[in-house]
Amino acid sequence: MLDKIKELKAEIEATKLENKEELEAFRLRFISRKSVIGDLMGEIRNVEADKRKEVGQSLNVLKNLATGKFKEVAEALEKSNSNINEGQPDLTLPDIPNQLGTIHPISQTRDKIVSIFQKIGFNVADGPEVEDDWHNFTALNFPPNHPAREMQDTFFVEKNPDMLLRTHTSNVQIRMMETQKPPLRSIMPGRVFRNEAISARAHCIFHQIEGLYINENVSFQDLKNTLYYFAKEMFGPDTKIRLRPSYFPFTEPSAEMDIYWGLKTEADRKITKGTGWLEILGCGMVDPNVLANCGIDPERYTGFAFGMGIERITMLKHKIEDIRLFFENDTRFLRQFQTIS
Ligand code: DAH
Repeated sequence: MLDKIKELKAEIEATKLENKEELEAFRLRFISRKSVIGDLMGEIRNVEADKRKEVGQSLNVLKNLATGKFKEVAEALEKSNSNINEGQPDLTLPDIPNQLGTIHPISQTRDKIVSIFQKIGFNVADGPEVEDDWHNFTALNFPPNHPAREMQDTFFVEKNPDMLLRTHTSNVQIRMMETQKPPLRSIMPGRVFRNEAISARAHCIFHQIEGLYINENVSFQDLKNTLYYFAKEMFGPDTKIRLRPSYFPFTEPSAEMDIYWGLKTEADRKITKGTGWLEILGCGMVDPNVLANCGIDPERYTGFAFGMGIERITMLKHKIEDIRLFFENDTRFLRQFQTIS
């Protein structure tokens, strides 16, 4: 029996354990209940009584040798396994989607309108959002008691009541005419402000595009042709327009342009109030007083002007029913206007 133990000791020491399979084979041979060492344990009772103690002790040493070696190798294998991927990227993880930004629908509409007018020779101009009374009202022929000047519509600068947040982009017309000589042919996009209660249909901040053409012999026919071209480019080649007489202090005559929207659905009936027609913009021939206010000779020059709301046109084109969506920056809304994918 002692010889057998010696033999097994040599075998245990010589056994190479380099992977899990070898380790498992080692466990079955030396450690498990049915292992060679287990068998020898069972045979102790057959050993002569005076040798039993010595055999028992040797067997215990042998058993400890085997379990010691097993544990040591098992731990080492475990460690080297978990180290394998340390510092390495885990290629099995799902990737992080590359989220492209989107161009705001208001900017998309603005860019489209601007490019339509650029094609027929309009250049782009802008002006200040914080404006004085002269450029926003007085030079545009607003009488001193005009309701648009009242506190309920206009945000005034508290410390200087002559200064205000512009209520329309028409101020840029004045700035153009004051500083440049005709011919003038400009499109003027920008942000405007009105002291209105915020609702699905109105906001205190919104965007307009102003147009201005000043030259010799500019006629109402030129205005109409220009707007008809714009309407077809913007809403499709079959678009119908009509001009309705209207009033603005800075144009004479003044008109509002409608496009024919149709009456196909209940929704069409609702937004066109049963008429099929939708108002898109205000326009007219620049009032001679306005030209004179800017130092342009009304005897020599005439011109037309128009102004439209960018939110309104965007809402119509995309069937958006709440203007507040444009200002909330909710990416679930904005992502629907992705132009690149
Ligand atoms: N400024 C006007 C508004 O805010 C829009 C407008 C109407 C502009 C007629 C114009 C125009 O240039 O000719 O409602």
